[in-house]
Amino acid sequence: MNKIKACIFDLDGVIVDTAIYHFQAWRRLANQLGFDFTEHDNEQLKGVSRTRSLEIILELGGVTKTEAEQAELATLKNTWYVEMISKMRPDEILPGAKEFVTACREAGIKTALGSASKNSMMILDKVGMTQLFDAIIDGNKVTKAKPDPEVFLKGAEELEVEPAECVVFEDAIAGVEAAKAGGMKAVGIGAPDVLTKADLVLSGLDKMTVGMLEEL
Ligand code: BG6
Ligand code: MG
Repeated sequence: MNKIKACIFDLDGVIVDTAIYHFQAWRRLANQLGFDFTEHDNEQLKGVSRTRSLEIILELGGVTKTEAEQAELATLKNTWYVEMISKMRPDEILPGAKEFVTACREAGIKTALGSASKNSMMILDKVGMTQLFDAIIDGNKVTKAKPDPEVFLKGAEELEVEPAECVVFEDAIAGVEAAKAGGMKAVGIGAPDVLTKADLVLSGLDKMTVGMLEEL
């Protein structure tokens, strides 16, 4: 078995709980378009790109828009989302996240962020965690969305480690699939009956220790 040399973390739902802000902004957009969007529907958007999220919402509402209109709507949603995340504070870091990332670094394990969000840098800055990652791969650096492994493979490349030496932490089904497709170990953050392809599923990073990395 390969020794684990790096941990790659998804952002939304693993480091911070921004799903609520995404939900509020998408719901405001749906309401403006004349239909509602529930928290249950929101589950379908986890780990999914901004463009694809909008397509799903329009399908749910039975609304058709041109490509140009879709671009405008996605920008509008993002303006509202950015308004909310610009007020984020360090107390919005999920339990155990900062502690575990710090423990990895102290143990000589490299750390990277692997997120679909184009707003990753702003969020990390607001919660004061930018300096805790040796590499940051976000939605601006990738062309293929999860479950494609591109985001995590780029992370491994920047950290100069082999995929088999990496563990990915993910809350989305597509994210776990991306990690496995890239030849990495995957720790799911969430429910075992949802993240069935993960090597281990935990309720949060507060349940993770550096010692557990070698047991995966
Ligand atoms: C992912 C979220 O991390 O980022 C998705 O789980 C979101 O819900 C995606 O749509 C893209 O985020 P952003 O901030 O670029 O719109
Ligand atoms: Mg996520």
